[in-house]
Amino acid sequence: MSAVPVEANDLQAYASSVASCTRCRLAQGRTQVVFGSGNPSADLMFVGEAPGFHEDKQGLPFVGQAGKLLEKLLAGIGLHRSDVYIANVLKCRPPGNRDPQPDEIEACESHLFRQIEMIEPTVVATLGNFATKLLSGRPLGITRVHGQEQETTLGGRSVLLYPLYHPAAALYTPAMLEVLESDFARLPALLGRVLVPTPEPDLALVAAPSPPAEQLGLF
Ligand code: URA
Repeated sequence: MSAVPVEANDLQAYASSVASCTRCRLAQGRTQVVFGSGNPSADLMFVGEAPGFHEDKQGLPFVGQAGKLLEKLLAGIGLHRSDVYIANVLKCRPPGNRDPQPDEIEACESHLFRQIEMIEPTVVATLGNFATKLLSGRPLGITRVHGQEQETTLGGRSVLLYPLYHPAAALYTPAMLEVLESDFARLPALLGRVLVPTPEPDLALVAAPSPPAEQLGLF
């Protein structure tokens, strides 16, 4: 019997199938697909924007300067990148690191949703505007919503979505870095939070008693 959990095999198999993706124009300019990396059954998942130069070359997300900062922030809360899962909205590098285009996001988003479904994180931390808008389904920018967790349904499960500033933006803006650090410091508490499963519509629940006190903060 294999020692590798089935989910890890499934995620690996999915990564292999995505490696030859040609759903959008970015397939032409990439060195390789940057699927994602880390613990395939992580409780905490980060979603960034798109691979940059170094990520495209190495095939791993967040390995450049922004990645170094992300690793430092993780270390600050006692975590290593191998404890979490890191992915991006786009799996291929946009030329010259330009912004993702709407049709590229649309072509790629099912890869991300499938990843979330397989990893089953309890907290999904979105890094920057693109991931935040896509996964919240709302147009509100990161400056408005950073540090404000919201319960949402992703991959058919209840997760806590936690928008954060993108580390690349914080690299050169000390005030933003301070905010990112203090938002980051709340992650352990959010991970310790128990989520209420998405309820099936059930008329019998209408007269159900109030939830226990520790769950009240979610609403
Ligand atoms: N920025 C991102 O959004 N993702 C990466 O993988 C690297 C930099």
